[in-house]
Amino acid sequence: MTLLVTGGAGFIGANFVLDWLAESSETVINLDKLTYAGNLETLASLQDNPHHVFVQGDIGDADLVAQLLQTYQPRAVINFAAESHVDRSIHGPGEFIETNIVGTFRLLESVRGFWSALPAAEKTGFRFLHVSTDEVYGSLSQDEPAFAETHRYEPNSPYSASKAASDHLVRAWHHTYGLPVLTTNCSNNYGPFHFPEKLIPLMIVNALAGKHLPVYGDGMQIRDWLYVKDHCSAIRRVLQAGQLGETYNVGGWNEKPNLEIVHTVCKLLDELRPKADGSSYATQITTVTDRPGHDRRYAIDARKLEQELGWKPAETFDSGIRKTVEWYLANPDWVSHVQSGAYRDWVQQQYAPPASAATAVNAV
Ligand code: NAD
Ligand code: DAU
Repeated sequence: MTLLVTGGAGFIGANFVLDWLAESSETVINLDKLTYAGNLETLASLQDNPHHVFVQGDIGDADLVAQLLQTYQPRAVINFAAESHVDRSIHGPGEFIETNIVGTFRLLESVRGFWSALPAAEKTGFRFLHVSTDEVYGSLSQDEPAFAETHRYEPNSPYSASKAASDHLVRAWHHTYGLPVLTTNCSNNYGPFHFPEKLIPLMIVNALAGKHLPVYGDGMQIRDWLYVKDHCSAIRRVLQAGQLGETYNVGGWNEKPNLEIVHTVCKLLDELRPKADGSSYATQITTVTDRPGHDRRYAIDARKLEQELGWKPAETFDSGIRKTVEWYLANPDWVSHVQSGAYRDWVQQQYAPPASAATAVNAV
């Protein structure tokens, strides 16, 4: 049995692959383009694991994806691959359209071609699980109820619009062609291996470097935080028991304003790595110009996943954020390689010959 995971060198995909292989001997084919957000150093512990096959390539490369599907005959495809950072989508939306919309379309077509030729039993058991976001639902006012799966789609940023489009394609491929799809829409993740362009890791690494902690606008925008390993357990559960064609919202009931998050990070750092002069890291907080079109509040109603599939997050926000800060303090090399860009040379340093497109780095 084999899984094809796309985007498995990014933050959530890599956590998923690491967690999967810690518990299972089912081989994972990990297809990732290695954009700036893809980091093979995150997967270094799998270097000698015969159940991890890394392939550098694009989900939109139909020939490559068809070849992988034929060669490895996966029972499921889990699509994490995406451009994921809202601020980058505002500065340059092109890549978001290319990967999140066109790439998902091409991937769906490749998978449809493979799936439709499968023998009946394999065809019935096959799954395409699409990993999406709560941002497709738009922004909530203070007193609106949390997003349920039936909430209208109202994306506001180029990123969320591109993810919304991908969700619609996945839905259409199920309704029109019968492709056995599942979609998850998750809230903000945090945890180990998070690229320090996103709020929580950025605040940790900037604080430790003595830099400003840039809070957009009034800092009262609300996000609903979920420890990344709880997102991964939800995906495993949906893959195992989700109803075909259904969408499942994933969240941890942890709505917090950004400013509170930043103060929590500072307080933990004050405790775990106090500054020599005795001052708090909170003195480094600065407010900066707001993000254009900044969504005010996200909140996820995860009752469908909890009640129908029995999923529950293992971490509270307090336990998860402490683990996260501890992880960044314990892994300064990972952080410094990301900051210096050295992580991008890691494949060349570790492997000979260097990885190239469509090269399996870790062949079974
Ligand atoms: P990330 O940016 O950390 O990782 C994305 C990965 O996809 C990278 O390894 C990158 O190299 C790869 N990739 C990009 N374009 C590709 C392409 N064309 N072909 C193959 N690989 C490609 O993102 P993440 O935070 O790990 O998010 C993973 C998925 O989860 C995304 O679909 C995102 O929309 C979704 N999501 C993220 C969050 C969050 O809080 N981070 C929450 C909900 C949903
Ligand atoms: O809700 C799920 C989404 O969460 C995912 O789909 C996205 O892929 C993921 O990037 C994340 O999007 P956000 O825009 O919510 O995450 P980000 O970490 O960029 O920002 C979180 C909040 O913090 C947001 O309100 C903007 C604010 N912020 C962010 C940064 C980077 C700041 O105030 N200062 C900053 O420097």
